[in-house]
Amino acid sequence: MRIIKIFDTTLRDGEQSPGASMNVDEKIQVAKQLVKLGVDIIEAGFPIASPGDFEAVKRIATEVKGATIAGLARARNEDIDRAREALKPAESMRIHTFIATSDIHLQYKLKMSREAVIEAAINAVKRARQYTDDVEFSAEDATRSDWDYLCKVTEEVIKAGAKTVNIPDTVGYTVPQEYGELMEYLMNNVPNIDKAVISVHCHNDLGLAVANSLTAILKGAGQVECTINGIGERAGNASMEEIVMALKTRPKFYNADTKIVTQEIYKTSRLVSKITGMVVQPNKAIVGENAFAHEAGIHQDGLLKERSTYEIMKPEDVGIPRSKLVLGKHSGRHAFKARLHELGYDLTEEELNRAFEKFKHLADQKKYIFDEDIETLVSEEVSKTPEIYSLVDLSITSGVNVKPTAAIKLNVNDNIVEKMEHGDGPVDAVYKAIAAITHTKSSLLKFEVKSITGGTDALGEVMVSLEENGRTVRGHGADTDIIVAAAKAYINALNKLAARKR
Ligand code: KIV
Ligand code: ZN
Repeated sequence: MRIIKIFDTTLRDGEQSPGASMNVDEKIQVAKQLVKLGVDIIEAGFPIASPGDFEAVKRIATEVKGATIAGLARARNEDIDRAREALKPAESMRIHTFIATSDIHLQYKLKMSREAVIEAAINAVKRARQYTDDVEFSAEDATRSDWDYLCKVTEEVIKAGAKTVNIPDTVGYTVPQEYGELMEYLMNNVPNIDKAVISVHCHNDLGLAVANSLTAILKGAGQVECTINGIGERAGNASMEEIVMALKTRPKFYNADTKIVTQEIYKTSRLVSKITGMVVQPNKAIVGENAFAHEAGIHQDGLLKERSTYEIMKPEDVGIPRSKLVLGKHSGRHAFKARLHELGYDLTEEELNRAFEKFKHLADQKKYIFDEDIETLVSEEVSKTPEIYSLVDLSITSGVNVKPTAAIKLNVNDNIVEKMEHGDGPVDAVYKAIAAITHTKSSLLKFEVKSITGGTDALGEVMVSLEENGRTVRGHGADTDIIVAAAKAYINALNKLAARKR
């Protein structure tokens, strides 16, 4: 069975999803989880794009061990040198350089001839090879490029030293049969193709990114580039969990597998969703809330008789936790720590203390505490944003014939500030009061509420998106009181905006 390399680009192409930007600490957290998941290569960012990107790649290269760390660079010396600088501390580094090869891009974007593009590609690969043996070249917009020209570029970059050649469907234009034929064409017409791994990188504009990637694997691609939850530019990239589980579920058909620890998939999906604020749609394959939920009576009956009647994968294979009653009001710190360890979280003493305090607070409000509740508490703790504003107190009056009113007390840089506001509803009143205290100029783009577990005492989770001066941030808050959760989410987003400004 062939082992397909998984090149994760959640932190680079995934972060290009509108509003999905992550701070450096959040990126490190995701990168560490990607190592646990077993990805081969983590594309940590595009170092020349901004000082923040450079810093993120450098810190990931320094702190994250157990996978190759890649940095993106245009086919320009300064990009490649910057990528190398950021990647230097990595245990194992890859420089990923690219230039477009389609006539549309050559004519309108690059204003370069085909010959000049080949020369730039060769020079870029040679320059990157001075720094590392592990060089990947991507022919941007490959699927709209002339096939013979693409063969020529591929041959030349392999001669120049590229060990991986990526054939991206940059604009999500191709369809499975055509992409498969393109793969075959390359395999048959590039004389030195056996000297490099052929990689695929598909965007989802027509909803075909996973299907295209799988077809390419059938035709000999040895690496697939993808993101967690399929996040990415426009309609996103190929979703890693879908590709991995398709190979796992249909081994005879694909005769290929990956080194992914599939039991870590769900946790990784939740983490990325929480950090980017990009909610996973309920019917999303593999990780959606309904992916393993059986509603129809006939299905439930079949499942009870024999699971395989209606289930092609087991939820536990992708790490979906069975809603387990774990701890309660009387559980101690030790039991809490042990359960966290079982769930895969190893916190510092300080993080553990804060998470335990929140757990005790939650246990006072909620009779049964489930793994999902604990995960929510902990991920809040681990992805902490520096707090300029924090919620001290909140009280609400609201009802059928009452004008909703909120009284809020915030700690602002160690000063307590209070404000009372009316609104169209309790959340509106709370948000007006917080906006008045913080003097924010941001506008609320999105407000989403969901409950973490069942029951009227469930933790409610609120995600918000705020926009200010072209910057979008997401905020997240959880509490058994949905209004408090809404306030926390808003404050979390305001703290992120403040941190960005600084
Ligand atoms: O979609 C694309 O072409 C890319 C390249 C930079 C690989 O993201
Ligand atoms: Zn891309």
